[in-house]
Amino acid sequence: MTVFKTKKELQNFALAAKRSGKTIGLVPTMGFLHAGHMSLIDIARAKADIVIVSVFVNPTQFAPNEDFDSYPRDFERDAKMCEEHKVDVIFAPNREEMYDANASTYVNELMLSRPLCGASRPTFFRGVTTVVTKLFHLAQPDFAVFGEKDAQQLLVIKRMVRDLDFPIEIINGKLIRDEDGLAMSSRNRYLSADERKRALSIHRALLGAKAAILADPGKIDVALHNAKAVITAAEGRVDYVSALDTETLEEPTAKTKHLIVAAAAFFGTTRLIDNEMFDL
Ligand code: PAJ
Repeated sequence: MTVFKTKKELQNFALAAKRSGKTIGLVPTMGFLHAGHMSLIDIARAKADIVIVSVFVNPTQFAPNEDFDSYPRDFERDAKMCEEHKVDVIFAPNREEMYDANASTYVNELMLSRPLCGASRPTFFRGVTTVVTKLFHLAQPDFAVFGEKDAQQLLVIKRMVRDLDFPIEIINGKLIRDEDGLAMSSRNRYLSADERKRALSIHRALLGAKAAILADPGKIDVALHNAKAVITAAEGRVDYVSALDTETLEEPTAKTKHLIVAAAAFFGTTRLIDNEMFDL
């Protein structure tokens, strides 16, 4: 396994690999890897000749009041996990390497990035689409794997790839949970034992809403109201609990076939997200 710290090294490597006919799979991450990340890496490993994992805590997707500085980092551990999962290349640039000091170009998706996390984190998706575009140009992947844990991010990336004609296939990885149902996240590291226990209410609330909506699709509002109450009862501060058409991320209509019920809530100062996607 090779670790590249500079953009040029990665791009030269990727272009040479492409010229020799090899396929490349990319898994973009912000590090502090867990089984959710590793499941994406395993998907890439099964498909590609060369697997590239990026480990970069991307400053442009954090607002000034968010947790960029405290975001958990452990490169040694990440590298060991990547090695065990037969990754070929880790790309781990620092902030100055990744962004020129006067960088002034961004990639913006304007529809799917508006609701849910986009409403409470208005510059988040702009940061994600910009850094992912840069990673695509640097790693030259034939395909890239993104997790359904961040379902809105996955949809935004797919829309960007379609709209801007990236020759890249985007592959979904299933949402991986801990045994007790908590969606795995690097941010779970912030939770106290008590917060972690209370945070299980998010998944419970989503499963309750899913069951209620499947039983009576005409009463989505009641289902969402009850789901919020489940999280509030566990002393979580709800950012949103919403049910949207998975294709459009707009309010469901009579034509809606696929629904996403998504939630974001704070436990202490930690903001967690989770979702359930299902057919009506
Ligand atoms: P990060 O939160 O590190 O996640 C990297 C990838 O792992 C994303 O595609 C995410 O959806 C996936 N992932 C995280 N937890 C998961 C879980 N429990 N199950 C399945 N997949 C999971 O998402 C980002 O980083 C960044 O926004 C990034 C795309 C790297 C751009 O900076």
